[in-house]
Amino acid sequence: MKGIVFTEFLELVEEKFGLEMVDNIITSSTLESEGIYTAVGTYSFSEMLQLLTHLSENTGISIDNLLLVYAEHFFSVIENSYPGLLATYKDPIEMISSIENHIHVEVRKIYPDAELPTFEVVEKTENSLIMIYTSSRAMHHFGLGLMNKTFAHFNSTATIDLQKIKEDGTEVRFVIHKN
Ligand code: HEM
Repeated sequence: MKGIVFTEFLELVEEKFGLEMVDNIITSSTLESEGIYTAVGTYSFSEMLQLLTHLSENTGISIDNLLLVYAEHFFSVIENSYPGLLATYKDPIEMISSIENHIHVEVRKIYPDAELPTFEVVEKTENSLIMIYTSSRAMHHFGLGLMNKTFAHFNSTATIDLQKIKEDGTEVRFVIHKN
């Protein structure tokens, strides 16, 4: 997992819960990085999972909800860092259905060692989209948060239904209807 995902996460934890919480979740985890991350470095996903698990235990907020809120924050990082990539799109359905064939392809050019999910488009109309998310990291709620903010970016909203195909969340169907 790329360092930018860790640095932005810890910044948000500090902003929402304070520096003490950052220190707490780092010291209660077993981290090869020792909790020191650089944006361009690459770290084990298990480090993120430990940080999320400890934050969840300390706050009573589920990991899914933490990932949802984090993704909504991460979208503004994307807006600031990759404005050109977003400017390619005029419509949220077009953008979200292009993650696999365009957006994450570009991400992979910037970060060759990025660990990305796959999003397979099953059905697409002007106002709806069905996609299958697959990833060993089960970060479907991170995807949900990014999708919510993609609609907001285009001054739009959507109803997004998430159906687990595999109980562990490594395969999930997203059913999206533009409002
Ligand atoms: C992961 C970039 C749009 C879904 C990531 C990562 C980056 C990234 C850097 C982390 C990779 C790693 O840690 O190794 C971008 C950029 C985007 C974009 C620059 C737009 C210009 C989206 C959108 C979605 C999405 C719209 C919504 C469906 C995900 C998910 C992950 C991810 C779910 C977590 C990894 C996993 O589940 O395995 N993306 N992304 N991305 N992205 Fe994107």
